[in-house]
Amino acid sequence: MTFLDLGQEWVGMGLRREHSKDLVEQLPKEIDCLEIAPENYMNTGGEYYDQLCELAKHYPIIFHGLCMSVGSLAPLDKDHLKQIKKFLKKFNARWMSDHLCFSSIRGGQTHDLLPLPFTKEVIQHVSEKIKRIRDFLEMPFAIENVSYYVDPAPPEMTEWEFLSEVLEKADCSLLLDVNNIYVNSVNHNFDPFKYLDNIPLERTIHMHIAGHQKKEDFILDTHGASIIDPVWDLLANVTSRIQVPALIVERDNNIPKLKEVLKEVSQAREIQKKSRDKKHASLSIVKDLVEEGR
Ligand SMILES: [Fe+2]
Repeated sequence: MTFLDLGQEWVGMGLRREHSKDLVEQLPKEIDCLEIAPENYMNTGGEYYDQLCELAKHYPIIFHGLCMSVGSLAPLDKDHLKQIKKFLKKFNARWMSDHLCFSSIRGGQTHDLLPLPFTKEVIQHVSEKIKRIRDFLEMPFAIENVSYYVDPAPPEMTEWEFLSEVLEKADCSLLLDVNNIYVNSVNHNFDPFKYLDNIPLERTIHMHIAGHQKKEDFILDTHGASIIDPVWDLLANVTSRIQVPALIVERDNNIPKLKEVLKEVSQAREIQKKSRDKKHASLSIVKDLVEEGR
């Protein structure tokens, strides 16, 4: 199977340093692919980079950026993009992804994914920037919905309307994070299934599923706990409607033993398998996007 055979339904995990030695030694059958942030490995060398190179011989590597800051007003950081492009080529990437947010101010990284105002003006700005990134990288680009806690400006529309317009205007792919939808639905009081019903799901090329932490009167998106049933339910809703080429379990904090993450990967695969019979959407639109480099 080639990477571009979008008949695939790969299930995998985000590669974390705590697990990479065990992964190299065990090469677990539970995973089909691994996701990495290029920024964590570019220009590094050393033990973890060597482990990544070893793992890349056995699993396709999927790429998820942290620093493109598509919402910032600063011009594209061409030097950073050049380095990313070189790295992606080395590992045969077929698409790149990053977040629908901004993460830099006046060129300085905030190391946080900050929300954008849901306005027409921002849609115009972000979609133009996504097109320029995609053209520069010369590969399809997927944008991820993020979790957020406050509206940075009075919204002109709902989050799902904002996301949908960006996807359509930039004509790009979607990295759909169902945990982020769940977190936002509780913190901002909306129906997460309504969200899923009102976005172009057929653009999904890549998905994330993760855990979070319940605080007294809100939910914090920590990626530091087990995935809960309402989030699994959102995954089941999506996989019953579309094929998802790459589904990734994310764990960034409170990192458990590898076998715990593999258990969640297997659970995700089980949900996807059960959904298969119910599936009615086709991959045609995603295939078109990839073939045309979007
Ligand atoms: Fe995510």
